[in-house]
Amino acid sequence: MLKKLLNEANYTVVFTGAGMSTESGLPDFRSSNNGLWKKKDPSKIASTDALNNNIEEFTAFYRERVIGVKEYKPHKGHYILADWERQGIIQSIITQNVDGFHQMAGSKRVAELHGTLQKLHCQTCRKGYDSKEYIRNEYHCDCGGILRPSIVLFGETLPEDAFQAAFEETQRADLFIVLGSSLSVTPANQFPLIAKENGARLVIVNQEKTDMDLYADQVVNNEKIGVLLEKLA
Ligand code: APR
Repeated sequence: MLKKLLNEANYTVVFTGAGMSTESGLPDFRSSNNGLWKKKDPSKIASTDALNNNIEEFTAFYRERVIGVKEYKPHKGHYILADWERQGIIQSIITQNVDGFHQMAGSKRVAELHGTLQKLHCQTCRKGYDSKEYIRNEYHCDCGGILRPSIVLFGETLPEDAFQAAFEETQRADLFIVLGSSLSVTPANQFPLIAKENGARLVIVNQEKTDMDLYADQVVNNEKIGVLLEKLA
């Protein structure tokens, strides 16, 4: 069915979550077995409150995640999506992921709704740095301000340009494919609904059920994303 939908569609947008990168070795957030938020309360660690009042734990937590995105690499599924963009099979990717793996695998049209862990910026003067500063235990800007990952923390708004690009792509889609997201975080989880309301076909590929499955034209629960993409390719 997904192969047929891909062949019939004129404008296909792929929407990815942490489940797209678990086969690269990065843990997701809410998987029942080892999601990151099963061990830590996100509001206490991935929030502006933690950045302002709990900087030691905040930098220790994000240093670990920066090490992860520098050590682990995109898997075959990321490369297949990049290849499909070059062949015109898909038109763009909207991602909630902050690992930068889609771009590393060669995807060009990627909207990063939640920013990226590959970069840091100064909380005071906003000067940008590579996130390897965290690996070197460097947490301060030349101006003395705190360096924080260029991701969206709980309590912050999404980057306007990525949000706008994602909105425009969603409006143009006649096929919208979700890969590896529990669709439990707003406003990111509104995009599949907007696509559906615009008359697009909606496919959700996710190991666990999501609250949006009832709106989908097709739900694939029993396949790992990497395996499914390799079969389709
Ligand atoms: N194949 C298919 N599905 C998978 C795979 C896989 N190999 N690995 C994990 N999954 C599924 C899990 O079952 C889970 O439902 O991917 C889903 C990932 O969901 P979450 O862990 O909630 O991740 P995500 O939806 O991306 O979270 C959204 O929450 O914490 C914030 O900013 C963070 O971007 C993140 C946002």
